[in-house]
Amino acid sequence: MTRIKVHTKAPTFFRDCRSFILAVLVAILLFYALWSFTETAWTNLSVSTIFSNTTTDHCTSQPQSLNRTHDPPEPTFYDDPELCYTLDKPIDNWDDKRKSWLKLHPSFADNIQDRILLLTGSQPSPCKSPIGDHLLLRGFKNKADYCRIHGYDIFYSNACFDPKLCNVWAKVAVIRASMVAHPEAEWIWWMDSDAIITDMDFKIPLQRYKEHNLVVPGWPNLVYEKKSWVAV
Ligand SMILES: *[C@@H]1O[C@H](CO)[C@@H](O)[C@H](O)[C@H]1NC(C)=O
Ligand SMILES: *[C@@H]1O[C@H](CO)[C@@H](O)[C@H](O)[C@H]1NC(C)=O
Repeated sequence: MTRIKVHTKAPTFFRDCRSFILAVLVAILLFYALWSFTETAWTNLSVSTIFSNTTTDHCTSQPQSLNRTHDPPEPTFYDDPELCYTLDKPIDNWDDKRKSWLKLHPSFADNIQDRILLLTGSQPSPCKSPIGDHLLLRGFKNKADYCRIHGYDIFYSNACFDPKLCNVWAKVAVIRASMVAHPEAEWIWWMDSDAIITDMDFKIPLQRYKEHNLVVPGWPNLVYEKKSWVAV
C-alpha cells in the first residue's frame, strides 16, 4: 500500500510543480504588462486631473444658497408646545404657520415653487435575502443621483414613526413628520424604495399641479370605475 502511494505521488508532484512554475511565469508577465500600462497611463493623466475635472469643472456649485446659519429669535410654530409630528393631532392653519416661518427665513422662500423633498424608505430590519438589501441600496443610489442632478433634497427613512402604521403604511407617518420638519419644501414626493427612475432628465410638471395639494398617480379606470385602492 505504502509503495503504491509513493509511486503515484511522485509524478503528480512534478506535474504540479511544472504547472506552478508556468502559472508564476504568466503572473509575472501579466504584472509587468499591467505595470508598464498603468505607468504610462498615470504619467499622462494624473489622479488630480481626473478628480479635479469631475469635482470642479463639470459640477455646478449649490443651485440655491440657503442661509442655514441664521435662525431669528422670533417665535415660530416650532415654539408651540402643542406641536406634534405624529398623525394623531392635526395641525391647524398650516399654510399660515408655514408662511410666517418663511418670512423669517427669506433665503428658504426664494424659488420655493420648485423645491422638492423626495422621501423614500424601507423596513428597519434586513431583507430576508441579501439580494433584497443590495437592491434597496441600488434603488436608493438611483434616487440620490436623480435628486443630485435636479437639486432636490432626499431623505431615507428606515424607522417606524408610528407603531400602528408599520409595513407599507409607514410612509404616511414619514410624510406627515417631514411636512412639519421641512416647511421649506413646496412638495413632498414619496417614492417606494423599489421604484426606479429610468429617465434621469424627467422633471415633474409642477406647473400642472399648482392648484392641487395632493397628487396620486394611478390607473383612472381601476380607481374610479373598479374602485380598487391598490390601483394607485
Ligand atoms: C480635464 O480637463 C483638462 C483641461 O480642461 C483636459 O485637458 C483633460 O483632458 C480633462 N481630463 C479628463 C479625464 O476629462
Ligand atoms: C444669514 O443671515 C444673516 C441675517 O440676515 C446674515 O447676517 C448672514 O450674513 C447670512 N449668512 C449667509 C451665509 O448668507
